[in-house]
Amino acid sequence: MGFRLLSIEDFYTAEERFWERVDPTSVTEDGWRGAVEAARTDLESVLGRGDGRAALDASCGTGTQALALALLGWRVTGADLTAHSVEIARTRAARLGVAADFRVCDMRALDRHFPGAFDCVVTCGALDNVSEAGGVRRALAGMHAALRPGGRWYLWLRDLEWVVAHETRYKYKGTRRVPHGQVITVEDWHVEGDAHVVHVYAHLHEDRRRTFPDEPWQTEAFGYRRRILKKAELAASLRDVGFDQTVFLPQAHPWEGYRVTARKPAAEAAASGRGDPPHVRLRPARPPA
Ligand SMILES: C[S@@+](CC[C@H](N)C(=O)[O-])C[C@H]1O[C@@H](n2cnc3c(N)ncnc32)[C@H](O)[C@@H]1O
Repeated sequence: MGFRLLSIEDFYTAEERFWERVDPTSVTEDGWRGAVEAARTDLESVLGRGDGRAALDASCGTGTQALALALLGWRVTGADLTAHSVEIARTRAARLGVAADFRVCDMRALDRHFPGAFDCVVTCGALDNVSEAGGVRRALAGMHAALRPGGRWYLWLRDLEWVVAHETRYKYKGTRRVPHGQVITVEDWHVEGDAHVVHVYAHLHEDRRRTFPDEPWQTEAFGYRRRILKKAELAASLRDVGFDQTVFLPQAHPWEGYRVTARKPAAEAAASGRGDPPHVRLRPARPPA
């Protein structure tokens, strides 16, 4: 299948502009609210309510987790590389009536922008977008620097190691009704060695008002490069940049990806080389097989 290989920023912009074109209500209609609600349930179970504490979403995209955290009473800053996504996040915050500060920022530069500012940092669906060698570690070091001592870190990520080992090349992602027809989306993974995969979204768009040139279907496919970020690599990188209490949370099925929490050690424990007393220690940083 032919596709355009895009930079991260161009991929997400192309994806969002595609939906805005085929379904101009996609930014304002209520479909995204369901995703915010699901994130709210998930984040409340892991991080609790904010009560005015400060949270950074380091890869906020169109705002799913950032808006959920704002609804939970966190004082939210959302940062993302893709300016177009940040604009959509601002629109959605206004529609929900919540306050959040959204900015364009690369997660590899967080330490320069937000040193020691947050009680929690979250990053969902994004860390493997940093595909170059050393990039993941730089991003994690920036998130660590953005946390106050004792602050919590949370990640959700697709398990690409499992996906490339178990999934078929083409995977049906879904069908969406749009004003003049429908869009069927298929995912595809082009594996590059054992470290990278090019992830392709192919949209088969039916527009009943038109023919292209002799039927109403047209295909648009774009892809971007992702790192196959193995759980062991993530756990080691977290430890190396100074996190402790790394926990891989249970997931019903590997297709759901993995959720991880960790902590920036409290100042006195870090200074003395001591961790928490045993009664508050979470499970050790051993990723599930
Ligand atoms: C799959 S989207 C997830 C967005 C949002 N967290 C969610 O779950 O709806 C991944 C996001 O990560 C962002 N991203 C990728 N690399 C980044 C980087 N180096 N710094 C900041 N954001 C980045 C992309 O722009 C994109 O918005």
